[in-house]
Amino acid sequence: MKDKIKELLEEVNIFKAENAEHLEQFRIRFLGRKGLLQDLFDAFKDLPGEQKRDAGQLLNQLKNAAQGKIDLFKESFGSNQVSIEIQHDLSMPVGFNEPGTRHPLSIVRNEIITIFSSLGFTVNEGPEIEDDWHNFSALNFPPEHPARDMQDTFFIEKNPDIALRTHTSSVQIRVMENSKPPIRAIFPGRVYRNEAISARANCFFHQVEGLYIDKNVSFADLKQTLLYFAREMFAPDTRIRLRPSYFPFTEPSAEMDISCNLCGGKGCSFCKYTGWVEILGCGMVDPAVLENCGIDSKIYSGYAFGMGIERTTNLKFQVKDLRMFSENDLRFLKQFESAG
Ligand code: DAH
Repeated sequence: MKDKIKELLEEVNIFKAENAEHLEQFRIRFLGRKGLLQDLFDAFKDLPGEQKRDAGQLLNQLKNAAQGKIDLFKESFGSNQVSIEIQHDLSMPVGFNEPGTRHPLSIVRNEIITIFSSLGFTVNEGPEIEDDWHNFSALNFPPEHPARDMQDTFFIEKNPDIALRTHTSSVQIRVMENSKPPIRAIFPGRVYRNEAISARANCFFHQVEGLYIDKNVSFADLKQTLLYFAREMFAPDTRIRLRPSYFPFTEPSAEMDISCNLCGGKGCSFCKYTGWVEILGCGMVDPAVLENCGIDSKIYSGYAFGMGIERTTNLKFQVKDLRMFSENDLRFLKQFESAG
């Protein structure tokens, strides 16, 4: 009897079902009510006691092996059959994947790019991990400037020369070092600052930097470009005003406000009853910065500006809490479905 079982075990082990019908024949032959295993178990009962132990073990082994084969092939035939049905039943309802929506920050970034592209600006990007030269020194930051402090900037441990860029102004330097004027480009990207996370501040955010270098570029060119941008971005009757300010890399420097797009400049809680909201920093590129990049400041001049994408998005869509932008809450994101 043991030999007979071993022979059958061999047969089970090499068995391969060609199709569902073949598998069913196999099942009936081995595990059916009148199948081989039933016969063997019947014969097993009449065996003398001393042979029962070995034969019993082999019999169980055979039963498990046969059942294993059936399970194995049933699975593959089963799934095949389902997929064939799906392919051919054209009346079945179609599975529908809801399309995603653009992130509000992407919508606004794309809009900024579209507006400046229409004025002939190209788009460049630079690295988020920067060295001191591109993020600070070439931009005229004095050694004691607070931005160089660990409090404000994420430095790479053990190497104070490497930091996460704190602004996209670093890309100005890279582009000026690597190309000759005229240069007319914008640089969108992510920047990092060592801030405690709150509704109004995050440790990373996004900016778009703008740079225009050519002969005879004036402050009037800057003002006209920014006015055009503000009217395209917000509303055709948007007004702008420039307030004197200070940045190490521009001289003169200014901050730009737009007339509050919620109250039209009359004054409301959003603009703190001033009628104006701040949108960006700008100025004429400091001659020292041009020289740092190998551009002759006696021949060329230029302007630069930098705006926060979160800030601009907030002005456009009134998002009260900055953290919303990085929480992936679909209830928030779905509200921008029709905007982009
Ligand atoms: N880099 C400045 C910031 O992060 C923004 C800025 C101001 C950029 C003036 C400019 C500029 O290009 O001219 O706050």
